[in-house]
Amino acid sequence: MPRIRFETADREVTFPEGDEVNLLRVAIRHECGIPFRCASGNCGTDRVRVLHGADQLLPARRRERDRLGELYEQGYRLACQTYVAGDVTVAWDPDQREMEASGKVYDRLRQVWLAKDDTAGSPGSDG
Ligand code: FES
Repeated sequence: MPRIRFETADREVTFPEGDEVNLLRVAIRHECGIPFRCASGNCGTDRVRVLHGADQLLPARRRERDRLGELYEQGYRLACQTYVAGDVTVAWDPDQREMEASGKVYDRLRQVWLAKDDTAGSPGSDG
């Protein structure tokens, strides 16, 4: 069975051969202690460094690459956005907090925000 090693927590978790499992979900279920907040690829709190087995991870989508910026090139992934298909080892800083928005992320969020109607659901409107 494939094995995920959570180096910082000194824990290992196996999963059925042929499955592709979400890294953060496995970490939470087995109380491995990866810090997280949004679980949706926005905050960057759950960034992990992939020590071994990067080729066993499904490719990162643009959203994740944008959020990580340079860290992606350095071998980091966002646990909440990462699916594992085989043996892998990850580590993290137990005290890490959310990342500041990179320029790309800020621009994307700004575009999403600006695309919405100014008045719909704004505070003080009657709905
Ligand atoms: S928990 Fe926020 S980016 Fe993964």
